[in-house]
Amino acid sequence: MEELLEKLDSYRKEIIDTQLTGAEAAETYRIRFLGTKGIVKNLFQEMKNVPADRKKEFGQILNEFKQLAESKYEQVKETVGGSASPDSSTDWTLPGDPIAVGTRHPISLVRNRIVQIFGRLGFAVAEGPEIEDDWHNFTALNLPEDHPARDMQDTFYIHKNPDWLLRTHTSSVQARVLETQKPPIRIICPGRVYRNETISARAHCFFHQCEGLYVDENVSFADLKQTLYFFVQEMFGKTVKIRFRPSYFPFTEPSAEMDITCLICGGTGCTVCKQSGWVEILGSGMVHPKMLENFGIDSEQYTGFAFGMGVERICQLKYRINDLRLYSQNDVRFLKQFVSAL
Ligand code: DAH
Repeated sequence: MEELLEKLDSYRKEIIDTQLTGAEAAETYRIRFLGTKGIVKNLFQEMKNVPADRKKEFGQILNEFKQLAESKYEQVKETVGGSASPDSSTDWTLPGDPIAVGTRHPISLVRNRIVQIFGRLGFAVAEGPEIEDDWHNFTALNLPEDHPARDMQDTFYIHKNPDWLLRTHTSSVQARVLETQKPPIRIICPGRVYRNETISARAHCFFHQCEGLYVDENVSFADLKQTLYFFVQEMFGKTVKIRFRPSYFPFTEPSAEMDITCLICGGTGCTVCKQSGWVEILGSGMVHPKMLENFGIDSEQYTGFAFGMGVERICQLKYRINDLRLYSQNDVRFLKQFVSAL
């Protein structure tokens, strides 16, 4: 107890002698004496060690000490702008600064819209890994090793295991779905794909696709055409026309690429449609019987259609974005333009 009183004396002296000349000195003083781990707090904690018959006396001494410590700080607080009370020049009733709200990425907006449109036709979303094996990305899709069509897509292989690669298309998810589900199957698989391309305004080493697969009894090319026509009208409006061009994909027979009227020039010809008035948005076709057989599905009983569209291409037409690099540069000036849902 006597020791404590001595300590108090020396602190009292220190308080009286301390010159609070500026904001920094005032703050140091506040932390030392009045802070949450400061001297005043600590002294109050000593109360429990004081003999019961002297508690009252010591309590009074401590309270006076606390007042002394506080009044010293109160005197300078206003002038040095101490943190204990708000600066009187600030109008605390003014509304605060707005908090910047993020926006969805245009690719996400388009992806979500695709999912929504096909969802209304009963297509469920399926997903697969971006690191794939050769079987799901190529062989199961009727692209055995040495098949020249493998050259259509420049592939990133993974050093550690020559059987692994970064999927070059979302068609790999078709293989995964056929492996695990039985017809009727109606799925779309949006996702990122990778190709070993030099980055430029028109090509990128990663981009996005959305795959579609419908397998059931009596599925015909007319179903494919009508499904995609519905999609295009929902996505781009009723006036947009479609056309199919015969094409080749190993996993479909017959195969077709689908074009829509160029939304940039309205069909009169521009650089985006290479003066043709049409732009390609997807590849499609009737699922190759061999592919169904690869997964034990009877190709006499079941038929199916499939398609794979480029999400960036749809985004380009929707928002007139001409440089693929913009999607991954994370420039907020670009990104913040896409506030509304499509
Ligand atoms: N996988 C093809 C590509 O990336 C696109 C494609 C074409 C997907 C025809 C399909 C399809 O499902 O039937 O170029």
